[in-house]
Amino acid sequence: MANLPTSSLKGRHFLRVADWKPDELKSVLDLGDELKMLLARGRPHKLLPGRSLALIFNKASTRTRVSFEVGICQLGGSGVSITAAHTHLARGETLKDTACVLSRYVDAIVIRTGPHSDVDELASYSSVPILNALTDSSHPCQALADVMTIRERFGRLQGIRLAYLGDGNNVCASLMVAAAKLGMSFVCACPTGYEPTEQAQADAREAAAGSGGSIEIVRDPEQAAASADVLYTDVWVSMGEEEERDERLAAFQGYSINERLLELARPEAIVMHCLPAHYGEEISEEIAHGPRSAIWDQAENRLHAQKALMALVMR
Ligand code: CP
Ligand code: NVA
Repeated sequence: MANLPTSSLKGRHFLRVADWKPDELKSVLDLGDELKMLLARGRPHKLLPGRSLALIFNKASTRTRVSFEVGICQLGGSGVSITAAHTHLARGETLKDTACVLSRYVDAIVIRTGPHSDVDELASYSSVPILNALTDSSHPCQALADVMTIRERFGRLQGIRLAYLGDGNNVCASLMVAAAKLGMSFVCACPTGYEPTEQAQADAREAAAGSGGSIEIVRDPEQAAASADVLYTDVWVSMGEEEERDERLAAFQGYSINERLLELARPEAIVMHCLPAHYGEEISEEIAHGPRSAIWDQAENRLHAQKALMALVMR
């Protein structure tokens, strides 16, 4: 059976990376590694027998939904996925009442929604942990799998240089704060007007000051990619931004991960993408499926990292 850390994270919400201390994030990564190994060896790790999880989705999802559902099942519990449009939330029932009711049925609630304030509101009325499965401004569960994958590949996080190319969006913001907390050197290359939010930059700079990490925002993708250990990208048009598609595609020209940027990065550098990808825009299908890609391990690690997260907060 898995080794759990002595300090308890039971009952904690996971709303944003900034709320968790570096050691708390590391305990998720450590348990994630262990659960991955136990699963591969077919060893039992039913840490949450009989526990239940509600998953509320206001936006599309493949990885997050399936990895949480399969994850709770592998831990001995069960999950119920709820499409928000098919609940009374869509007819005006409040988040407060929804939190009060679901807290009586389940042991944790996963939510993917637009406004981050929805997640905060749910958390303030829920008596069980709320796990943020993406908002317009953050994607903390993605960041856990991302840093787990980087540590798995390089054996460390301290001092690893990650170049994030493109839109300073929700995925970028959470990853930037996680990287800063864990001592990484994070550089974001983005066009003017597409930087991570001021709040995310402030959280990351504060975290970097305590960890020996660093944060940089630049315009030139080549400057970011030079000597990078990781080249990371995400879509240029996130869910809910479809009307801005033409102006975004124009703004991000020159920010694709390509062979030239791979040549500038370290020889052992890996390519990452949270998926889904828009091939021919931020990355090509050849690179995503090529020898430098860690993307498929990264997607797999959503399962292991989230299982660790659930085990730690729901036990
Ligand atoms: N990366 C990610 O969160 O994927 P889904 O939108 O498929 O959940
Ligand atoms: N930035 C993307 C991530 C999808 C997982 C979006 O919000 O649509």
